[in-house]
Amino acid sequence: MLDALQNSGANAGRGNHSLAVGTGRVLVRTRSMLAELFGVANSQDIAFTHNTTMGLNMAIKGTLQPGDHVISTMTEHNSVRRPLEYLRNTIGVEVDYLQVDQKGQVDLLELERTFRPNTRMVICNHSSNLLGSILPIGDIGDIAKTHGALFLVDAAQSAGALDIDVAKMNIDLLAFPGHKGLLGPQGTGGLYISPGLDLEPLMLGGTGSQSENSMQPNVRPDRYEAGTQNAVGIAGLLAGLKVIRTIGTEVIHHKEWLLTQRLMEGLAGIKGLRLLGPALGEARTGIVSFVIEGEDSAAIAHYLDRGCHIAVRAGMHCTPLAHKSADTLESGAVRASVGVSSTELEIERMLAAMKEKYGQAGSRQK
Ligand SMILES: Cc1ncc(COP(=O)(O)O)c(C=O)c1O
Repeated sequence: MLDALQNSGANAGRGNHSLAVGTGRVLVRTRSMLAELFGVANSQDIAFTHNTTMGLNMAIKGTLQPGDHVISTMTEHNSVRRPLEYLRNTIGVEVDYLQVDQKGQVDLLELERTFRPNTRMVICNHSSNLLGSILPIGDIGDIAKTHGALFLVDAAQSAGALDIDVAKMNIDLLAFPGHKGLLGPQGTGGLYISPGLDLEPLMLGGTGSQSENSMQPNVRPDRYEAGTQNAVGIAGLLAGLKVIRTIGTEVIHHKEWLLTQRLMEGLAGIKGLRLLGPALGEARTGIVSFVIEGEDSAAIAHYLDRGCHIAVRAGMHCTPLAHKSADTLESGAVRASVGVSSTELEIERMLAAMKEKYGQAGSRQK
């Protein structure tokens, strides 16, 4: 990123001087690595975005029409739910959110039963940002395809940590962040758009191509990338992707899973503490959320931060329906996030901190 700032700083596709060409090369290489990671045949089908939310909005608002029906789930983030509710209120899109069980799983038979003749799209997260649950997106993609519906996957919590293959999983649209599992900086992300899909662009404007044309060009990715791209951020994303390619998503996921297991095991020993999502030993991503009976989740997070320099998130996590399913709508929850750079030592420090304050039932230090 420093190199991009200090030695380039030019705008890709806006000139043919060598600095602009150099920036363009960074974008091309990043797009190619993303395509390789997600099983995308043509990297031009990936558009850069500023985050997952932008990709989700492009996919949802660029596709749905009045009268369309959408099937989604109770574990969706507000970045899915709010655009859907907006379209429900403004143009009459119909939405069903599938119930999930305590482990965050949907019933695939229920999914089958929810289709209607006007079901245009199925939208789900790959992994819940509250529960850490992993949805069977391969199976869901098959079902969506059988019913002729588009399949949009929110990979905010899984890109870089779980295998994703858009071709094998029948994914038509994949929204992902650069700044989480892909190890890039904030302000990066992307949307895969399947080749046959003519998505209405959310933003119109300069692309550096077909400047004489008053309409947005039809060529990809320009059609979906109006305005200057975050080339410095994308240079950082490229560096992150190289790390992921070297380690491999399977190794990353396994490491994260082992650390979550140790964390869950230790937390389970605290009286009154309830872990959310999949049980010990079951598949999950690096998220471990919990509540402690009679304790305020914000106060727990505050204690860990100020007292122990451990950053966890408390509250609603932008997913109120998932909290409703987990019965934590009133209390909120504390969420610890394990990533590829987390260590066993950090897990033990967190457990020691938790045990020190909340470990002894009946004698908790306030
Ligand atoms: C499941 C899920 N979807 C969407 C988002 C929004 O992602 P972004 O902040 O990249 O827009 C998040 C953010 O944490 C998330 O966890």
